[in-house]
Order: sequence, then structure tokens, then C-alpha cells
Amino acid sequence: MGGLPRTRSLRDVVLILLGATSMHLASVFMGFNEPTGSIIVKTEVSSHFVEDINNTVVAPPAEDRETSRERDVQKVLDPGKDTVDVSFQLPETTILSHAPGWTVFQNIYMANGTLYIVSSEPASSFPHTRMMTSTGLAAENTPENIAAREPTARDMDFLTPAEARRRWGGNSDKADRNRVWSVGGNTVLVNEPPQFLDHYYHFCAELMLGVWPFWLGTYNIQVDASAPSVEAAPHIDRMIFSHAEATGWRDRPGFNSYFLRAAFPSITVEVETDWKDRIAATATHGIPERAWHFDTLMLTDRSAAFRGESCGSRNQRIASEAVEHMEKRGTLSKWWWEPLRQAVLRFAGVDQETLEIGVKADAVAARKDGAEVDWAGSTSLSKPQPIVITYINRQGARRHLIDEDHQALVQALTAMCAAHSWELNIVQAEHLTHDEQLKLVARTTVLLGVHGNGLTHLIMMPVTPISTVIEIFYPEGYANDYKWTAHALGMKHFAIWNDTYHTYPDQLWPNYPEGFQGTQIPVYAPLIARIIQDRVAGRLP
Ligand SMILES: *[C@@H]1O[C@H](CO)[C@@H](O)[C@H](O)[C@H]1NC(C)=O
Ligand SMILES: *[C@@H]1O[C@H](CO)[C@@H](O)[C@H](O)[C@H]1NC(C)=O
Ligand SMILES: *[C@@H]1O[C@H](CO)[C@@H](O)[C@H](O)[C@H]1NC(C)=O
Repeated sequence: MGGLPRTRSLRDVVLILLGATSMHLASVFMGFNEPTGSIIVKTEVSSHFVEDINNTVVAPPAEDRETSRERDVQKVLDPGKDTVDVSFQLPETTILSHAPGWTVFQNIYMANGTLYIVSSEPASSFPHTRMMTSTGLAAENTPENIAAREPTARDMDFLTPAEARRRWGGNSDKADRNRVWSVGGNTVLVNEPPQFLDHYYHFCAELMLGVWPFWLGTYNIQVDASAPSVEAAPHIDRMIFSHAEATGWRDRPGFNSYFLRAAFPSITVEVETDWKDRIAATATHGIPERAWHFDTLMLTDRSAAFRGESCGSRNQRIASEAVEHMEKRGTLSKWWWEPLRQAVLRFAGVDQETLEIGVKADAVAARKDGAEVDWAGSTSLSKPQPIVITYINRQGARRHLIDEDHQALVQALTAMCAAHSWELNIVQAEHLTHDEQLKLVARTTVLLGVHGNGLTHLIMMPVTPISTVIEIFYPEGYANDYKWTAHALGMKHFAIWNDTYHTYPDQLWPNYPEGFQGTQIPVYAPLIARIIQDRVAGRLP
């Protein structure tokens, strides 16, 4: 949010194409259409994986390998247990957790740009490489591009311990050291081009909203709602953007770097040039070869996530694979997002009482006697939750409401809020600083606006039983971004088509009709006012 919307015609086209593919896949997958034979969707036995639409692309054997390699993470948390001197040993690779597009490895190696799994177990005992990685190319919906994103042995490969020793090992007779250098600590490797990364929604509400729950879930970190802390999880030491330069992971309004630094003040960032340095250092053009060893590495890959069923067929959100996997595994605690949300908001200057609106309202709602909740050391929730309505006004931006409908909406909201003594904010985000925007959204009960990046701020709203996101689309138009995100965080979402709305459990499919991006989006203000009043009164639970 902030800044005029950039002209992202390429991204929109790609989203439209991906949306169309996903919708087609979904309709085939859900059995709404008979497969025609030219488009083949293979579902693997009892697995979550859906093959890409072109079955001529590497078709691995049908078998669910996903969870078999997940190790007892408790072992990992034993201090000292896994500190191996790679000068003299090459510890074998294990996988701590894996979902399509999300994998946490221990002891993975990189040489000349290839990630190497070193194991005495066969490759078939690991997840398919295409569910972990890709060539990292930007996505287009052409058969050529889909094939070109399929990983090869250049991207990820397997070595037996003996092969690894032959390539990188020292001469043990002479007590030589291995030619392997360890990159210690915890690394997140983002194998994704700038195509989506340089966008607030895709970076914060998709990538980070997947990295964080996957990390917490891997180590089964249970968040303490009364004191949610980033420090309770193993430290994330660095992020490597192997296909994006310094500007490639930054959005124009500047929220991506703000968010990352606020949440992880001591994180180190490496970009494509740094990754190329690491590659060049190991590309020795002959014997002896060198390699990097990564202690613990989370690999995220957008294309691989889209090969999963949840992302590829249902949600089109890479984070959905990470979140659903950890939910199924039972290691994601209820307030998983709260540590990052509170860390970023505290950085923005939000006070403690405001930070706790969500967890306190939830605790009050959970108590039958309606008694106050008082965390140790903080103020009690003695007054009811303030009702704050925030309308993101996009009239100055490309995609926006019919002017008269915007005026009528402002009038209806103003009258409603005056009648109930609710706070109303009508904001053009580009006129507020980062801190101002976050301070506002930290108190917002209902966030409302035309489909657009401003709604990404929903990830900073307090999650209470009445928290609501209202997203206005051109009638019949739909995109899955904010609905999935709102639901993942426990908030209710309404998609508005002028005078009708859709909410869970209605299922809409992405659709970008003529007019979607235009300046003639209608909205019937009385409907919006009614939804807000019903939500606050608890009539639309
Ligand atoms: C599938 O991919 C192959 C090669 O990548 C290509 O020759 C073929 O035309 C594609 N088929 C379809 C249905 O897209
Ligand atoms: C390193 O990778 C490049 C391709 O990126 C390849 O051409 C080259 O032969 C490789 N070098 C070695 C030593 O394997
Ligand atoms: C929007 O809904 C209102 C109320 O039903 C209706 O009067 C108006 O014509 C609709 N606008 C469009 C563009 O459909």
C-alpha cells in the first residue's frame, strides 16, 4: 500500500493466466468436468500432489513420500547434538519437514549452483525434487515455460556419502580436511524470481506468511498468546534471494524491507549476486571441487508450491501449502502469526494495549462469564473493543469505484459511524507514512476497499471474533488473495459484487472480467453498512 499502484500489466496477465489454469485444474480435479484427454491431471495415490497439466513433463512414481522423511525434530533441538565438523565428516542430509514448495533440510550441500542431498538412502525415499524446487524462472502459462520450470539435476541432485567424499573429501591418509565450508545457523533460501517478490502482498502476506508458520510448525513451537515472541522460535539467521537482486525483493512503497527488518532485526540478507559468488567459489572447473554445507536450510519455491494440490488447485497461494501442512501435522498453534504481527507493530510504535486487542477479545469471548482478562503486567480489557472502520479509498488509483458510488459509500459509512459512535477512517494510504498506516490498521475492526494491495494490511489487524475484511470486486470478478489470507488468520471475509455478497462457505473461482481493472466498479452502499452492522452485532458469525 502507499504509492500509486504501479503498472503491473505483466503480473496481472500472469495472475489471470495462473488463475485460469488453476480454475481449470480445480474444476477437473474436483470432478466438475470430465478430463478431455488432452489435459491430463494426475493425482497421486493418497497424496496431496497434482501433476502439472502436461504429463510429458517428468512423471514421478505414484507414492506419497512426503512425511516419511520428517525427522524427530526434538533431536535437532538438543544443543550440540548436530554440531558436526564438516572438515572431517560430511553429515547426511535429512528433511525436518516438507510440503509442496516448502522444505526444511539439515545438512544440505551446494556446489556450482546445485543443491546436493547427501544420503545413503535412495533418492526415492525423499520427496520428488519437483515438489521441492524448480529452475526458478518466472512463471508463464505456456507449455514451454511450464516445462522450463521443471527442475533438473542442475538444480537439485543426490549423492551417496562415498560420492560426496570423492568430490569434496580430503585424503584421509594424510589427514587432509574436506573441501567443504559450513554456512552455520538457519537459512531461508528463496528460489523465486522478482516476478512476485517485489510486491507487498506476495512478499509479506504470501512468502513470510508461509515461512513463519512452516518454521514454527517444523519445531512445534507453541505461541504463548499472552507474550507472543519471535525469539521463542529458533533464530532465523539469514535469507538468501537466489534469483532476486537488492531491488528484486523490495516493493515500491517499502513495506517488504520494513517488515523484514522490524520482525527480524538481526537477519542477514543475501541476494542473487551473493549467491553467484557462492556458486563461483565452488565452480573450480575440475578437481578438486569445493562445496558449501548448510546447517539448516528452509527452501521455498513458488513453482513447486503450485504443483501442490492446495496451492495449485484450491487457493493459488503458496503459503496455503505451508499452513495446511502444519495444521494437518498438528504443530501449528492458534496464535502463530501473532509474534510477527506484534513485532512489526511494536516497531511501528503501537502501544501494548492496542497490540493485545485481538488475544484479549478472543480470551473474553472464550469465557462464558464474560469476565475481564488480565495478563500479568499489562492493562486489563476493561472497556469494550473500540469499533474502528477503515475504508481504503482507491479513487486516485487505477482500479476504483464509480465516483458517485464512492460518495454514497462515504456518506453511508459516515452516518452509520456517527449513529453508533464508531471510529471511521477513510484513507489514501499513499498520504500516510508506514508507521501511520500500521498504527491505524493495528486498531481496525473492519477493513474495507476495492480489491488491491491496500488490503494486504489485513495481516496487521487484530484478530477478534468480529474482525472483518470487505473486498469490493467488479461484479463477477474474483481473486483469491485476500480471502485466503483473512481466513488463514481467523478473520471473516466478504466479497462484494455491488448489491450482493459472498462469504464462506460460498466458493468463488478467480475471474477477471472486462471492467475488473477499471474505474467503473459499482457498489451498493446500504449493503456494506448492513454487513458491518451485522458483524459488529454478532449476527453474521
Ligand atoms: C507438452 O510438452 C511437450 C514438451 O515439453 C510439448 O512438445 C507438447 O506439445 C506439450 N503438450 C501439451 C498438451 O501442451
Ligand atoms: C558449473 O555449472 C555450469 C552451468 O551453470 C556448467 O557449464 C559447468 O560445467 C559447471 N562446472 C563444473 C565444474 O561442474
Ligand atoms: C447496483 O445495485 C443497485 C441496488 O440493487 C442497483 O440499483 C444498481 O443498478 C446496481 N448497479 C449496477 C451497475 O449493477
